[in-house]
Amino acid sequence: MRIQVVDHPLVAHKLTVLRDRSTKSPTFRQLTDELVTLLAYEATRDVRVVAHDVVTPVARTTGTRLARPRPLVVPILRAGLGMLDGMMRLLPSAEVGFLGMVRNEETLEATTYAERLPEDLHGRQCYVVDPMLATGGTLAAAIRYLTDRGADDITALCLLAAPEGCRRLEEGLAGIDVPVKVVTAAMDERLDDRGYIVPGLGDAGDRLYGLVD
Ligand code: URA
Repeated sequence: MRIQVVDHPLVAHKLTVLRDRSTKSPTFRQLTDELVTLLAYEATRDVRVVAHDVVTPVARTTGTRLARPRPLVVPILRAGLGMLDGMMRLLPSAEVGFLGMVRNEETLEATTYAERLPEDLHGRQCYVVDPMLATGGTLAAAIRYLTDRGADDITALCLLAAPEGCRRLEEGLAGIDVPVKVVTAAMDERLDDRGYIVPGLGDAGDRLYGLVD
């Protein structure tokens, strides 16, 4: 598993405003969207392409197009939805599949409550979007879901990651023979005893969409 922390002043600036507890939901959503677009630029560096002939007003030349099958973007509901538009802005021809996963706040284990994905993902590059790589359980379960269906290249985009979550994710991917890359805006210090990232930004779903009981 490869981990890339995107080192860019605009990423750092936007992330700092996201962390600020006084930042309200509309600004939080807007900044998440902008930040994801910056992360997506790095995350798609290895997107599969093919040579493509094109006739310009001046000459014939060979350029580049995205290869088929089209990449699949998979937001993990609920908070991953806040990252979908920013991702699709860079990959407008991608398809979108949905995975609803919830973390049990006591056991910190992830369970799947909804799924809308193509049955056959053979030959697909998948981009999983989930803001917080905290315990790593949700992301490991999501990646296993995709590779079980044949996905052969996975990139996860996270706003923040915790070292414990990266270690657990690596363990959770044991036996999966598919390249996995994590692209994040920052590697934070640790998890607290409730499984929150420290210093983090709080509950990403609540900050994007408000509290639910
Ligand atoms: N999920 C969140 O939304 N925030 C955290 O800090 C950890 C998990």
